[in-house]
Amino acid sequence: MINIQRRRLLKFAGLTAAMAAVYPFLSYAEGMIGMGNQASSDFDPDVEIELKQEVVDIPIFRGPETRVWKVFGKVLKGPETAIVNHAESYIAPTIQLQKGQKVRIILKNNLPAQSILHWHGLHVPSKMDGNPMYAINQGQTFVYEFKVLNRAGFYWYHAHTHGVTAKQVYSGLAGLFIVSDQEEQALDLPKGEYDVALAIQDRTFDDQNQLYYNNHMMQRMQGFLGNQIVVNGQPDYVLPVASRAYRLRLLNGSNSRIYKLAWDDGTPMTVIGVDGGLLERPERHAYIMLAPGERREIWMDFSGKAVGTELTLRSLSFDGSMFGGMMGGMHGGMGMMGRMRGRMMGGMHGGMMSGGDLPLGGDYAVLKVRVSKQVQAQDKLPEHLSAIKPLRLQDAANADSPRNILLSMRHMSALLNGRSYAMDDIRDDEIIPVNTLQAIAFDNGFGGGMGMGGMMMSMPHPMHMHGEQFQVLKREIDPRFRAGYETVEAGFVDGGWKDTVLVMPGEKVTVLKPFNDYKGVFMYHCHNLEHEDMGMMRDFLVK
Ligand code: C2O
Ligand code: CU
Repeated sequence: MINIQRRRLLKFAGLTAAMAAVYPFLSYAEGMIGMGNQASSDFDPDVEIELKQEVVDIPIFRGPETRVWKVFGKVLKGPETAIVNHAESYIAPTIQLQKGQKVRIILKNNLPAQSILHWHGLHVPSKMDGNPMYAINQGQTFVYEFKVLNRAGFYWYHAHTHGVTAKQVYSGLAGLFIVSDQEEQALDLPKGEYDVALAIQDRTFDDQNQLYYNNHMMQRMQGFLGNQIVVNGQPDYVLPVASRAYRLRLLNGSNSRIYKLAWDDGTPMTVIGVDGGLLERPERHAYIMLAPGERREIWMDFSGKAVGTELTLRSLSFDGSMFGGMMGGMHGGMGMMGRMRGRMMGGMHGGMMSGGDLPLGGDYAVLKVRVSKQVQAQDKLPEHLSAIKPLRLQDAANADSPRNILLSMRHMSALLNGRSYAMDDIRDDEIIPVNTLQAIAFDNGFGGGMGMGGMMMSMPHPMHMHGEQFQVLKREIDPRFRAGYETVEAGFVDGGWKDTVLVMPGEKVTVLKPFNDYKGVFMYHCHNLEHEDMGMMRDFLVK
């Protein structure tokens, strides 16, 4: 195997060198070999970036270094600020662009596996979106070219490789993607070192400091849970702050863990932005829910706090257990599911395998903030943040009959409308006319779909759609699931533009999504990455 790969690499290197000699203007000749994608001559980028994926060892703990899959970034053209590398962590470089910029991103895959990167939340052409069909092999290159159409916001990017997205993201293939624009810059929000992005993830490290991952059936059904929280790739994360206001951008980059975030001193969470940028005005919540793939931006003012003051951002307990509130028709049935749950939480799958001391819905610290210097600042939270045009149901092409997407888990599979993911498998109800607004309802067992077949179970699913951002129209909860729902409900921030929405057991969430500008294939899926890899993912064809 290794020999074959080496020979391929040599052959590949030779070919590239030869082609470069004959055609020196073909700087991305690799793209001509087999798969991949090459730069186009009629695209004149404002910013050109190279992202190289490598296997490296990094010092996360004392003792043995940790082997990770890491992305290294380099600016080839345009402002140096377009890329911020994080040398000390497995986190991929942060990409920082302006709305309206044309960007070329040259992805080089030096990993011993196929891979492709997807720009989560960005509105880009189908071919530039990182669909798994565009995965490239070791040694190959994929060139992305697109114009940044998105408004200012906190987006991100990650591997999206067929069947192994969870494993690849877990190994390190994920980074932040921050877009700025004039509307945002006109506001006097905290900038520079006072604008801090925090990627929240969970990991399990073994006694050799190596990342531990398994995808046994039970881990796939509930999603992998690490037994340790890491922030920006670091365990026991402490953020030193000055005594003033901060803009904190929170990403849930975990494979499956859902957070219910709150400050431990009772300060409300002041939300100023969600997935697709700033809200119209700030919202205060006692806690906020943050599901995999989602982002929130919060305003936090540390002024008046003495140096040395510590605050903890915690995840509070909620009913998020795999079988919590399951199975209408099997009331009180501690039958088979109850026994399975008991076994999972206790003995057999305890410890490393199911989150250890950090079960889903537990109460634990996520990160700490320590006030470390006094500054004079007069920060004022703007009352009005941005203009958001509300989408209206009556403008949807299918206003009378929203597309219903039934989320289900049964017979050990996770399905959308009873189907599993397959490439090139568009069905009639997955074809969408371009430049239309669509009403789409994610139905997680609302109104009695449960219980048929006996083996159906109910879990929260963070549903994500590629392409343009959407707006949440309404949430409906089946009364049988009310009790569990009340432990999370106050933490939804449904205003503004979203690309991922948490759908709780027994819930139906209807959204309005524009499909403008680009034809082609765009994915929709559960962002619990183990569910996604299990097949809880499909393509829309926009045409
Ligand atoms: Cu963040 Cu299709 O993914
Ligand atoms: Cu799911």
